[in-house]
Amino acid sequence: MQTNNTPTAAGNTAWRCPSNIALVKYWGKKGKQIPSNPSISFTLNDAHTDMHLAWQSKSTRGIALEFLFEGHVNEAFGNKIVKFLESILVDMPFLEQYRLRISSINSFPHSTGIASSASSMSALAMCLCSMEAELKGLPQDDAFYQRASHFARLASGSACRSVYGGLVQWGATAAMAGSSDLYGTPLKDSEIHPEFKCYKDAVLIVSRKEKAVSSRAGHALMDGHPYAQARYADADKNLAQLLTAIREGDVDTFIRLVEHEALSLHALMMVSNPSVVLFKPNTWEIINRLRTFRQETGCNVCFTLDAGPNVHILYPESASEAVETFIKEELVVYCEGNYWIADHVGSGPLKLGHD
Ligand code: PMV
Repeated sequence: MQTNNTPTAAGNTAWRCPSNIALVKYWGKKGKQIPSNPSISFTLNDAHTDMHLAWQSKSTRGIALEFLFEGHVNEAFGNKIVKFLESILVDMPFLEQYRLRISSINSFPHSTGIASSASSMSALAMCLCSMEAELKGLPQDDAFYQRASHFARLASGSACRSVYGGLVQWGATAAMAGSSDLYGTPLKDSEIHPEFKCYKDAVLIVSRKEKAVSSRAGHALMDGHPYAQARYADADKNLAQLLTAIREGDVDTFIRLVEHEALSLHALMMVSNPSVVLFKPNTWEIINRLRTFRQETGCNVCFTLDAGPNVHILYPESASEAVETFIKEELVVYCEGNYWIADHVGSGPLKLGHD
């Protein structure tokens, strides 16, 4: 048994992990969080989770966790995390040798309709892998990040892409060497044309309500969906074409594919059984006005959507002034409480200082 004098009796680690926005959408899964099609996303910067994990050795068996969300004990979230930790005990058996305390804070308000699972579950995976690395004396190398991405995927599929910055691909596909269903793979600098290196994402909050459909229920809509096979083939093709567009700086193809993907996601939901409509009238207003603005100005701006009514507006930094003026003058009126969030593509997780 360990005593308080042993170096591994207690410790702590903390990570800041960002959210991500998919360009080719992961929609439908099988087995243990295996995606039915490959996806790719931009990792964001300002929408992030700060997670702190502290551990103290104990002699009893089983997971012992105290979980705090935004400074308060949150049993509902805590119970979900306990379940997840129990499910990975075979890979991380050391977890039951310690009393764990996790504290999590999001940079974005809870009621913005922004999904926090990608940032929070990637932060959890980074903290767990850091704990493991500290206990076993392992380096924070490529294998560390790959393992963190693997556990983030098990916690919440798309979270596996938040373990890296920039553009991150997930899901085995012939279009990308080294791609895997088990973890995300960041695009190399040489695979990204300068046009796509400084992208911004303005998140227009059409509704602050919680997601109407849970992620699990959403993916399940693809089971037995009449268009499932056609969708998976389309996503694979879109990913291949998008990778080429990103490498060659082909903005027109990028815009066409990103909007096609967003609308495909919602079209699939609308014709699912049961049918799910997450669009709001203001979602359409924003999309229509954005397309008119693009036609009239020639500005390289496009939209994408998550599984919700909020609109993500993507544009290169060089178009910031024009697009942000347009948002303030014409689009904020369609946002709940005139609320929108200015974010941009970031460099991925950041290890925070120890206590
Ligand atoms: O990772 P999940 O299970 O929350 O699913 C994410 C699904 C989408 O956000 C709609 C698409 C994606 O690839 O992020």
